[in-house]
Amino acid sequence: SSDESQDDDTAIAALVSKLPTREGWSQTLVLYKNYWIHPLFLKSILRLHTSFKPRHDDITLASNPKCGTTWMKALAFTITNRSRYEFDNNHPLLTRHPQELVPSMEIPRDTNDDLKYLEALPSPRLLATHMPLSLFSRYWLVVYVCREPKDAFVSWWHYANKIGGKEHSTTDGLESALDMFIQGFSPYGPFWEHCLEYWRQSITSPDNNVLFLKYEDMMSEPVKHIIRLAAFLGVPFSTKEEEDGVPDEVVRLCSFEKLSGLRANHTGGTIRSHSMVLDKSAFFRKGMVGDWVNHMTEVMGRKIDCVMEEKLRGSGLVL
Ligand code: A3P
Repeated sequence: SSDESQDDDTAIAALVSKLPTREGWSQTLVLYKNYWIHPLFLKSILRLHTSFKPRHDDITLASNPKCGTTWMKALAFTITNRSRYEFDNNHPLLTRHPQELVPSMEIPRDTNDDLKYLEALPSPRLLATHMPLSLFSRYWLVVYVCREPKDAFVSWWHYANKIGGKEHSTTDGLESALDMFIQGFSPYGPFWEHCLEYWRQSITSPDNNVLFLKYEDMMSEPVKHIIRLAAFLGVPFSTKEEEDGVPDEVVRLCSFEKLSGLRANHTGGTIRSHSMVLDKSAFFRKGMVGDWVNHMTEVMGRKIDCVMEEKLRGSGLVL
């Protein structure tokens, strides 16, 4: 009932208000179960715990922010809907932002009731989240996309500057952002913990229900990984489709060049992301592997490498 959900909201707000807070990345984050999360997103996550009903055929796209979420949304949407839409004719991606086509579970939408919105989506649902795996209440299929941390860091820094706006004019310098990042203080951070949780699940789960992908692998051999992705999602490409070059067409339609050039993704549009209104182009910057060298010194780069080496040691994960 709405009374119960109001009680929940009150309890959640009380809980969140008692958590440690820290300012950075043009926002204030709270620390919950070892992760730094924006309080609005954390409230949504806690509400999902009590009220979200997962379905057996849900597909969840998970990621650290700035690691290729938008790209993965476009790819998974195109792959799972390829019998419904032709690629060059009225394809939804040509007129709608990938962020709009695949909802992020914990990011409040314009509608007042996000849970009702998720509930109303037809099966099979394609959903996205930045939640750490340990904050899921239940899940079936998860695709996780990870990215080289120096590039992810540089991407975050640019993005934080964009969301900074007037309210948050004290944008952190690159050096101080780097210090925060390697302390584990970044949105949904520590970055490495987030990756490690999904990584461990992907290599140990007997159900084989987490697919772990890397941005760099997908950039260097997109077709190969798109084929893996389709198989994992339960909609493998047929031999005929492969012969006809369908995987290549998916890659082309979802490429940075194609998507960033579309009016729908850059012109005059905005996307609401909690209290902030973002330009649609904020999700497309360079789409490059190794761009960190254009922003950081070798010494700064090594700082991230050292922390990652230490934190990932023994896990089998190399980023
Ligand atoms: P850069 O800032 O390095 O360019 P997210 O979608 O998780 O927020 O990640 C954003 C990053 O992915 C940005 O990285 C963005 O440019 C890049 N990106 C967006 N669309 C892409 C695509 N279709 N292919 C490759 N990279 C893409």
